[in-house]
Amino acid sequence: MGLVTGMCSLPASLDGRPKLLLIDGEWVPARSGRVFDSYNPSNGEVIARLAQGDKEDIDLAVAAARQAFQGPWSKFTPAQRQNVLLKLADLVEQNLGDLSLLDSVDMGAPIGHGLSDSAVETLRYYAGWATKIQGETVPNSNPGSFFSYTLKEPVGVVGAIIPWNAPLSSAIEKIAPVLTTGCTMILKPAEEAALSPLAIGELINQLDLPPGVINIVTGFGDTAGAALSEHADVDKVAFTGSSFTGQEIVRAAAGNLKRVSLELGGKSPDVIFADADLDAAVPGAGMAVFANSGQVCCAGTRVFVERPIYEEFVARVSAFADSLKVGNSLDPETQIGPIVSQVQLDRVTGYLEIGKSEGARTTAGGERLATGDLAKGYFVLPTVFADVNDDMRIAQEEIFGPVAAVLPFDSFEEVSMRSNKTQFGLGGGVWTRDVGKAHRMAAAINTGVVWVNTYLNFDPAMPFGGSKMSGWGNEMGQHSLDEYLNIKAVWINTGE
Ligand code: NAI
Ligand code: MG
Repeated sequence: MGLVTGMCSLPASLDGRPKLLLIDGEWVPARSGRVFDSYNPSNGEVIARLAQGDKEDIDLAVAAARQAFQGPWSKFTPAQRQNVLLKLADLVEQNLGDLSLLDSVDMGAPIGHGLSDSAVETLRYYAGWATKIQGETVPNSNPGSFFSYTLKEPVGVVGAIIPWNAPLSSAIEKIAPVLTTGCTMILKPAEEAALSPLAIGELINQLDLPPGVINIVTGFGDTAGAALSEHADVDKVAFTGSSFTGQEIVRAAAGNLKRVSLELGGKSPDVIFADADLDAAVPGAGMAVFANSGQVCCAGTRVFVERPIYEEFVARVSAFADSLKVGNSLDPETQIGPIVSQVQLDRVTGYLEIGKSEGARTTAGGERLATGDLAKGYFVLPTVFADVNDDMRIAQEEIFGPVAAVLPFDSFEEVSMRSNKTQFGLGGGVWTRDVGKAHRMAAAINTGVVWVNTYLNFDPAMPFGGSKMSGWGNEMGQHSLDEYLNIKAVWINTGE
């Protein structure tokens, strides 16, 4: 039976017992015996205790993953791996309600907003690829008779490090390609929100998988995360998180030159031309910033608005921000939940002060919600800063909170240039009724994804990744498989 919060019943897995690590198919405590607290950001209460994994635990998990990679898992046929993915998809689907609740209570995603809904489709999408990983027959021009072909082979043991802003879908986005390609893994969830990844571990143990294929080690970044990214027997690190930590991981990976893929931060431009349908652009560009309280890597936080509609847009998007219902993540009416933690709250409110001191005009929000019941949680009002210029810190740095910076522009050429005046290259948006302009702007924005007259659409078949400081490589889509595969060239002498 779950706890009753007055809004939704919490999953029975929140029974007060410390959570364990999944190593070699068994749930075990950290070798050190240490645990740490996990909080509900809607009220600051401790909801679970997690095992504080460290280097020793990572070593054990890597050894188990290596053994599984070389052992029975390597004998699984593509069709068998497909079935593993399909069965896991069914289990996730059957448990999606509880898994979504865990994300809501652990990191504050509003329960009605379906943050975790993509997990099932992601698993089913990758299941289809398990039987379609193939090399090529390559004609060669060597004298003599040689038959030459390529094989695609799993890279091996993968260390996956994920953040807290979409725990279930981030975990699935790492687990799915590992199972598809025949790799094995150690998953290191974020210390702020590890409950749904751990619940996935329970489902994985219901599959007929050899032990050690998927291991889960909770713990902190500078200990467990660092041990994983520098481990000499890990073949690849797949990381999602901040650009700063991405740089740390690249340095740590240099020891054995392991492969690295990175999904990092952003400061994405969203360009509103004067001919845009404002009835669509106002809520569209608004939610591109405020969804998940702005804790979205590709949030469209630099909103460029063409001068003739600038004041109208500022007024309307500010009214839209004011209309959003901020509240407890378990309240089905809530549109904007809390910020994940006290640390992140302090970071975001720090940027609110920076914006004001830089001279931006606050037209909505601008402060923490510090009255009534919500004062115990980490709530920030959806905020609009107008009259921002490109050099302000609030226009250049990733805030990761519900904070829009709105900047006026005068011409297509100007906004093409200014939209790329950032160290990041993740997302981008264009709002216009002119189809030619839409294509020209989509081409001009130097990012991994551009949305036109929409924002924040995702599909497992569409690649997602960034340029510049936003990352290396792609997740989702066909090409993401290459991040988990090595190509082997084979030569056969067919001469007599
Ligand atoms: P972070 O990037 O430090 O944490 C993400 C993951 O990396 C966590 O699992 C953490 O334990 C791990 N980690 C931290 N240091 C590590 C290290 N030295 N070696 C290996 N793993 C390590 O992000 P954090 O501290 O939670 O948030 C700070 C800021 O980062 C946010 O305000 C936001 O701007 C950005 N961020 C961006 C995300 C995105 O998806 N673009 C996701 C999370 C944070
Ligand atoms: Mg938490």
